[in-house]
Amino acid sequence: MPQQRNQSDAPTVAQAIERAAERFEAAHLSFGHGTDNAVDEAAEIVFFAAGLRHEDAASVYAQALTAQQCERIDALIDRRISERVPAAYLTNRMWFAGHEFFVDERVLVPRSPIAELIEARFEPWIAADAVRRVLDIGTGSGCIAIASALACPGAQVDAVDVSLDALAVTRINIDRHRVADRVRPVQSDVYADLGVRTYDVIVTNPPYVGSEELASLPEEYRREPKLGLYGGEDGLDIVRRILAGAVMHLEPGGILIGEVGNTEEVLQAAFPDVPFVWLEFERGGGGVFVLTRDELERLADGS
Ligand SMILES: C[S@@+](CC[C@H](N)C(=O)[O-])C[C@H]1O[C@@H](n2cnc3c(N)ncnc32)[C@H](O)[C@@H]1O
Repeated sequence: MPQQRNQSDAPTVAQAIERAAERFEAAHLSFGHGTDNAVDEAAEIVFFAAGLRHEDAASVYAQALTAQQCERIDALIDRRISERVPAAYLTNRMWFAGHEFFVDERVLVPRSPIAELIEARFEPWIAADAVRRVLDIGTGSGCIAIASALACPGAQVDAVDVSLDALAVTRINIDRHRVADRVRPVQSDVYADLGVRTYDVIVTNPPYVGSEELASLPEEYRREPKLGLYGGEDGLDIVRRILAGAVMHLEPGGILIGEVGNTEEVLQAAFPDVPFVWLEFERGGGGVFVLTRDELERLADGS
């Protein structure tokens, strides 16, 4: 028989987070979709399910939850554990570069360290006021494209993805952030449908997971679209095409910023003559390089 919850044994927000985190630890969940530990993951689910705002955290931690809030929290915690689904697919939200984005299973959960670079308006790699046209290859939720447009108010951004499903989510976020006049969703296989358009910044978090790494990924990552993760046997199928076409699509003085995560060493070994500059991030993460158009041009010339 279901038990009735008394007002007196109603857990507080802090207790609900603690209990959920204990259950996550016991179930050996994997984290990495916006949080990197059980407590932060539990806090996001509890706050979402209880209809609370993270901004109010300090004042609501000691607040007792209602029976209805507890039911909603338990239902999501149960699903997080039994389905091994990233929390963002349960809450349909994720923050990136300080902005909230709608997400669902059609797109990768935003988590790229490139967010920090966008917050810095791509400086010091290019002068912020020189960023007039940006291309985001593999836009998914549109997080990089839209955050770039919001960071650089003078910029026009092409948000490219080969997946129409992903572009449907990009459009939701373009509308949500009211940037339809400056962010254009484009279906294209890398550069194929862009014609001869050129950009000051090409930024990309493409699929870069190789076969070996893909086979070892925790269940949570298998909930994401394979098209967003898998980059062929060595992970570099799409990256090679991005590198090869970048000169043609960059303005003089333009830059290419690319994320390749754990495939950094494979990329460096495949292109030993390319002077990749690997970036460091205050909030963690790595595997992001910057190349200038001049460097790419010299390589294309063989000089
Ligand atoms: C790693 S996800 C990145 C999504 C988003 N930019 C982010 O950082 O959260 C890679 C994206 O590239 C897209 N993609 C895969 N192959 C592509 C191709 N050939 N041309 C364009 N986009 C592609 C996938 O659909 C996916 O949305």
